[in-house]
Amino acid sequence: MYLDHAATSVLRPDVLEAMSREWARVGNPSSLHEPGRAARRVVEECRERLADALGARPSEVLFTSGGTESDNIGVLGGYRARRAVDPARRRLLVGAAEHSAVLDAAEHLARSEGALVTLVPPGRDGVSTAEAFVAAAHEGEGGPDAVALAACLWVNNEVGTVTDVPGLASALRELGIPLHTDAVQAAGRVPVDFAGSGAATAAVTAHKLGGPTGIGVLLAQRDAALQPLSYGGGQERGVRSGTLPAALVVGLEAAVTSAVAQLPTEAPRLAALRDRILDGVLAAVPGARVTGAWERGEVSRRSPANAHVLVPDCEGDSLLFLLDAAGIACSTGSACHAGVPQPSHVVLAMGYAEAEARGALRLSLGWSSTDADVDALLDVLPDAVARAQRAHAAASARAR
Ligand SMILES: Cc1ncc(COP(=O)(O)O)c(C=O)c1O
Repeated sequence: MYLDHAATSVLRPDVLEAMSREWARVGNPSSLHEPGRAARRVVEECRERLADALGARPSEVLFTSGGTESDNIGVLGGYRARRAVDPARRRLLVGAAEHSAVLDAAEHLARSEGALVTLVPPGRDGVSTAEAFVAAAHEGEGGPDAVALAACLWVNNEVGTVTDVPGLASALRELGIPLHTDAVQAAGRVPVDFAGSGAATAAVTAHKLGGPTGIGVLLAQRDAALQPLSYGGGQERGVRSGTLPAALVVGLEAAVTSAVAQLPTEAPRLAALRDRILDGVLAAVPGARVTGAWERGEVSRRSPANAHVLVPDCEGDSLLFLLDAAGIACSTGSACHAGVPQPSHVVLAMGYAEAEARGALRLSLGWSSTDADVDALLDVLPDAVARAQRAHAAASARAR
């Protein structure tokens, strides 16, 4: 049973079929001969349909290798371009609950290029607000005029909370600060309208919504200043050089357009599964807590695809391994650094104590999820929790 769609989702059969057709053809979209022109036509038609699905103009769709690269171009490229014009803009406002693709890019700028990074914490409910970003802009050295860029997730990859991106972007725009938003967990799960969002740039990846790994887009407003991270053939407005992978572009387009078209029926269906998981965990595990904003049936503050809980007196990692042994694939949501499980920076940023954060468990849904997945999870969960708690108690006793 696969409950880790936020890590990567199951490839959609229609995507596989569309890609297989395209893999069988030859042609570099930059070549001038007929096979090249045919590949170019395929890519440009995909670009148009993607733009349509995501509320962008075709010229705002830049193909990349995925979410990490899109975030890096948005943050590094956006910061460097702004600072090149105005060297006094040294500051970066970054959500404290961002994915490492954004956090580590910001840290790199701080370490190597003298950027001053302010981490803006979410609320206890995991939601990042315009008020917190505006306050951070005013509080730091030089105020808003010294800020080059802000970055905030659209949907948090660990706890699934949704940012009001249009509200945030408009508050920041009044201060002259462009926003990069990581929409990797948002596209296909909540409505994403790039033009309406007011963000300067947004990252999307194919493999989170049933497409292939290795392809994504950076949505970039026409006037968004971006320095490239790599140099070469000048493809994608000179921002992202490299031969375009036509078959992956086809797969990305098929996945995004399917996910977006199915969203009106999928969002309530997944929210019902999400709510069954959360209610089931609360009923089965005394002291368990739902992390982040949640109302049954509601999808505007929490992604319909995300169930995240804190299980008391246990290590999320042991729970994960016990569930895995029982045939349930899920995640703690947080990264493992050098083989050592770390409490999630997201849960800590929300104000939970380290001991509470250690019991984090993320169950994430996707297009192929069914009630049978939830039944299987709820069947094995009580025993797995009891065993993980016993292991935790034994380890604590040994440490004393
Ligand atoms: C919020 C978020 N941003 C960025 C990424 C990175 O995307 P990719 O795996 O396509 O590089 C992920 C994937 O884990 C993610 O969840």
